[in-house]
Amino acid sequence: MKSFEEYLNISKAINGWFDQDAARIFYFLNNLQREEGLFGNIFEIGVHHGKSALLLGIFIDPKKHKLIVNDIFDQQELNISNSGLGSKEIFKKNYLKFFNSDGGLQIIEKPSRELSVGDTSNSCIFFSIDGGHSADETYNDLLTAKNALLNEGIIAVDDYFNAGFPGVSEGVCRFLIENEDFVPWIYCFNKLIIIKKTEVNNYKEMLVKNDFENFCKDNNYFINQMKFFENDLMIFRKRSSLNSILFNISNKLKKYRLFKKVAPFILKIFPFIRKIKV
Ligand SMILES: C[S@@+](CC[C@H](N)C(=O)[O-])C[C@H]1O[C@@H](n2cnc3c(N)ncnc32)[C@H](O)[C@@H]1O
Repeated sequence: MKSFEEYLNISKAINGWFDQDAARIFYFLNNLQREEGLFGNIFEIGVHHGKSALLLGIFIDPKKHKLIVNDIFDQQELNISNSGLGSKEIFKKNYLKFFNSDGGLQIIEKPSRELSVGDTSNSCIFFSIDGGHSADETYNDLLTAKNALLNEGIIAVDDYFNAGFPGVSEGVCRFLIENEDFVPWIYCFNKLIIIKKTEVNNYKEMLVKNDFENFCKDNNYFINQMKFFENDLMIFRKRSSLNSILFNISNKLKKYRLFKKVAPFILKIFPFIRKIKV
């Protein structure tokens, strides 16, 4: 099995739109599922050259489960929202270079609106949506994901807040309004993570069990919580390394009474400190 670090290395050379921090969080979430003994198929709509698909390939044991990917690849005349430009040839080359085998991989080449449960299976634990970016495509892809997922499954939608693709947010909102049993749970690095409402507390417990706080600290992530579709959406941001150092120093210093006394003077002498966002 390939490691996450090996994935990070190879992914640098792959053309695509998958942020390494999003990859790190996907990997952490899949580890939560593993810790709970949750295994199953993984599905992706929208492959392009495989930047995200290669990570998803790590999530399966090819002897037991499948990574199923869907893209229109060479039928780009069907790419009505001009999102990406899939190439089966480049994707397969990247996949084989990384895994030395395509065991467990299944490629479905057609527009995602034609996918059926026969294609997706109904035992997916992770479903990544990054194909057509119009409202109808996004909405349909979410319905496909809903039918493919196990109860504890996770859906990740790309570009929810990307002003360049407003259709994605329209499609997601339509889906969430019509399917109140699903809620947005995390927004991180261009990905909106949606889970079943009944699973929110289970996942919260899993986060605590799996040292989520230290995971965030180690990676300089900080989280704002905002109500969104009646759920507490966790919005991930990242501090720069310098800001993290300053944040940790100021947190430690705050414990000392003397620091509290001199802090106002320091801020008076060096007013630019206030502008540093920690
Ligand atoms: C933004 S790219 C995917 C990026 C990829 N996930 C990555 O990590 O870099 C979008 C992909 O969706 C494909 N696509 C566009 N419309 C589609 C549709 N209706 N059905 C399936 N795939 C589609 C495009 O060919 C393209 O490869």
